[in-house]
Amino acid sequence: MPSIKFLIPGVVIASLIGVAITQKPDAAAEPPKVEESPPAPKKSPLETFMRKKLDASSKILEGLCLEDAALIKEGADALSEMSKAEVWNVLTDADYREHSREFRENTARVAKAAEEGDFDKAALRWFDVTMSCLECHNHVRSERKADKK
Ligand code: HEC
Repeated sequence: MPSIKFLIPGVVIASLIGVAITQKPDAAAEPPKVEESPPAPKKSPLETFMRKKLDASSKILEGLCLEDAALIKEGADALSEMSKAEVWNVLTDADYREHSREFRENTARVAKAAEEGDFDKAALRWFDVTMSCLECHNHVRSERKADKK
């Protein structure tokens, strides 16, 4: 049985180590704790579908960066296919259909330029596709606003 004289310093040291381990490094330097944000709401099937356009777009961008024609074409074809899907037609007005048609044409131009190995042209056509993304979204937003009135 160790005498109490040895036991006490042992306990003190052990608890000091415990404090050292559990204490956060430099708590003052941490950003102020803002209220925990709630977990991101689960995406609906439509949102998940729409977000796939981002994956296809990043394939095209990657393909342009690496001059990888196959990758560019893969992304452009995927976008074109998506625009033919039933779920794509969230709105059915003439403008939406026109935006969809232009979008498809622009993706086809990207694919064609890639097939021809003309990366400058593919890049320019890619800008047109990007503009189509934004223009259609603007249209969707303004339609929604009009609905709310
Ligand atoms: C012809 C119309 C049209 C075109 C073109 C279009 N989108 Fe969309 N997009 C939509 C619609 C409709 C929604 C769904 C809006 C809603 O219901 O809230 C949407 C939603 C999205 C969303 C949000 C998904 C979510 O999390 O809610 C992203 C991201 C997106 N599109 C990316 C793109 C990209 C990138 C492109 C171009 C490569 C593109 N879109 C082209 C119509 C279009």
